[in-house]
Amino acid sequence: MESTVSWIDRGRERFVQELVAWCKIPAISSDPAHKADVVANAEHLAAELRRLKADRVEVWPTKGHPAVFASFMHAPGKPTLLVYGHHDVQPVDPLNEWISPPFEPAIRDGRMWGRGVVDDKGQVWIHVKAIEAFLETAKKLPINIKLIVEGEEEVGSENLEELMKTHAADLVADFVCVSDTAMFGRGIPSLCVGLRGLMYLEVVVEGPKSDLHSGSFGGGVANPVNALARMIARLHDDQGKVLVPGFYDKVVELTAAERAEIASLPFDEKEWLAQTGCPATFGESGFSTLERVWARPTLDCNGIAGGFQGEGSKTIIPARAMAKISCRLVPHQEPEEIERLVSQYLTKIAPPGVNVKVIRHHGGRPYLAPTDHPVFEVAKRAFAKAFGRPTVFIREGGSIPFVRTIADATGKPCLLMGFGQPDENAHAPNEWLDLENFHLGIKSAAYLYDELSRLPAK
Ligand code: BES
Ligand code: ZN
Repeated sequence: MESTVSWIDRGRERFVQELVAWCKIPAISSDPAHKADVVANAEHLAAELRRLKADRVEVWPTKGHPAVFASFMHAPGKPTLLVYGHHDVQPVDPLNEWISPPFEPAIRDGRMWGRGVVDDKGQVWIHVKAIEAFLETAKKLPINIKLIVEGEEEVGSENLEELMKTHAADLVADFVCVSDTAMFGRGIPSLCVGLRGLMYLEVVVEGPKSDLHSGSFGGGVANPVNALARMIARLHDDQGKVLVPGFYDKVVELTAAERAEIASLPFDEKEWLAQTGCPATFGESGFSTLERVWARPTLDCNGIAGGFQGEGSKTIIPARAMAKISCRLVPHQEPEEIERLVSQYLTKIAPPGVNVKVIRHHGGRPYLAPTDHPVFEVAKRAFAKAFGRPTVFIREGGSIPFVRTIADATGKPCLLMGFGQPDENAHAPNEWLDLENFHLGIKSAAYLYDELSRLPAK
């Protein structure tokens, strides 16, 4: 291990430059104008894996964006680890809020700034470099490694299940590791043991066949914008509890031990709030902020549109109104069921005189890790060697659809070893990656591979 670790130390600057090069490719999966960039992005990663002489490197096409697969299977009798990440990135608007351009990664204050540097290209590169470290120093890996890096995570992984079915045999492994989450705080190695799921839909409220003069028709017919506003207002009570009947029926309540563990974390609520710029915290009563964000379900209106938006005034009864609504889900809520409950409720509470249409978007299932599995102790040891600090177990309020899909398909535990920071500006302007975390991340991954080599292969 010593030579591998010192090789990682010597490569520090080169790894940063390599990541800068990859992050220049604007692989925005939600924007059709960037379709070719997402392909180039996948090819860039595949070229690096070919350079490392992986025994298989394949770019797997999907109906949407391609995924990259590679395998290094030269450790007979040793366990196989499946590493997952995503190579696509979020859009960059509002562009004028970026201090340096999103696709010209800059180094300032020990950080790399740019879109995708931490979510998730930097974290994918961590594993690629840990693999290279062994190949360069020991000429082989201590375990077998398979890598799957998808190109549609930021748009809901809609083609992932089919891709995983097609390649089920290729993805067989003993353990799974995903690096696409954040650490609890600076220098605190964190294993994420729970992710929320997601249900996303769009509701369209329609009235007249086109906008009407509000003088001639106002008072005579229903106004779709008024109707939608009334409907949205009936989704929560004053404390933020969701009013959709059945919404909480399948929710697994936190145990006293889980609540105590969350309460024991050094959470600075003031600092957390300051980061948001909001005047106060808000949410379902009876739960702490961390509990609400990590282990309680939510329903949020992500956007709303309808009627006249231009300058000045225009007197109309708008023809339609629309809202995008999503729910973060916790075990055992399933996106299909929650979608049905929310749609039924929206249809039921629609005021008379309008038609309501609900359009389903993507979803993802929640995940809770089996933390009593021995692989969690292994991961803690790897983290302790790299960071010199004990590991904390955390959850995240975000979603990674792959995690539950692979856990269900294989029955194998998934280690969520993330190297981001809570204030990393993922999905926002000025996303950054802590370069010390990037470096220690590569070491953590290397130690993890080494520690896993002492576990039996099934
Ligand atoms: N890296 C995030 C997941 C994440 C979010 C981890 C927050 C830790 C904290 C991932 O790339 C992501 O943004 N996922 C989407 C998934 C969705 C589109 C299905 C999310 O959570 O919104
Ligand atoms: Zn993301």
